[in-house]
Amino acid sequence: MKLKGKTALITGAGRGIGRSIALAFAREGCHIALAARTPTELDHTAVDISALGVTALPIVCDVTRTEDISRTVSTTLDTFGHVDILVNNAGEARFKPVYQLSLEEWTQALNVNVTSAFLFVQGVLPGMMTRRSGRIINISSVTGIKALPEQAAYGAAKHAMNSLTKSLNLELRDYNIAAHALCPGGVDTKLSQDAMPHRDKSEWMQPEDIAHTALYLATLSSHMAVDIISMRRFAGDPLA
Ligand SMILES: NC(=O)c1ccc[n+]([C@@H]2O[C@H](COP(=O)([O-])OP(=O)(O)OC[C@H]3O[C@@H](n4cnc5c(N)ncnc54)[C@H](OP(=O)(O)O)[C@@H]3O)[C@@H](O)[C@H]2O)c1
Repeated sequence: MKLKGKTALITGAGRGIGRSIALAFAREGCHIALAARTPTELDHTAVDISALGVTALPIVCDVTRTEDISRTVSTTLDTFGHVDILVNNAGEARFKPVYQLSLEEWTQALNVNVTSAFLFVQGVLPGMMTRRSGRIINISSVTGIKALPEQAAYGAAKHAMNSLTKSLNLELRDYNIAAHALCPGGVDTKLSQDAMPHRDKSEWMQPEDIAHTALYLATLSSHMAVDIISMRRFAGDPLA
């Protein structure tokens, strides 16, 4: 088992990509703290993780609330003692042209998709730096690399996610801590269904495709600097 006895804190782990990453890590022996807002989805994932013989710690958390983030990190540390791997995956996508975006929508996009990651990183870093060991995997997007129409707020957040990742690698290399940003194109999940209900997703990636790459990153030597990975399916749709 590649992650036997390790611990991971994964946000947005109730469904979609986060749930798949949680299950992929659990299959490799990793204990998982999983955070999201919907208790039923968290509990469902926790049951499936526990069935794999590792500990699942479901924590109800709204990542736009700083007090929820503090409680999530402290509950995880109280239970597991330390965090080996942080996966900042929680996110939402609401697409609109810039001229229709309200300040509240802009701020919400940044809060959910990147400010939460910054705060979770700050929460786990002291322990990782003391232990001189740690891995941070940020689930970004192809929109963090290139602009797409109606995705200015989401894209600004994901560009910031990539920048945060690169800064972390420059600042933390002496601590044996590595950060990675994973930038998928279209993945067939609730997020993409809500944001793009009319797009044909039959050729899009599945959450398991992203989980497979996240597992690769989680097990990569910390001597390897892999800042950003871009992923898409070889399909006719250039946005997929
Ligand atoms: N699907 C795609 O095409 C695609 C492509 C590139 C990147 N991504 C990225 O992949 C990540 C996961 O998305 P997904 O496609 O798997 O979507 P999803 O199935 O809708 O899952 C999103 C997860 O994030 C959680 N979440 C959302 N807002 C939250 C909040 N305020 N507080 C706590 N948790 C919150 C959700 O749980 P609750 O609603 O219960 O809180 C859910 O568990 C996102 O960062 C997204 O930007 C997705």
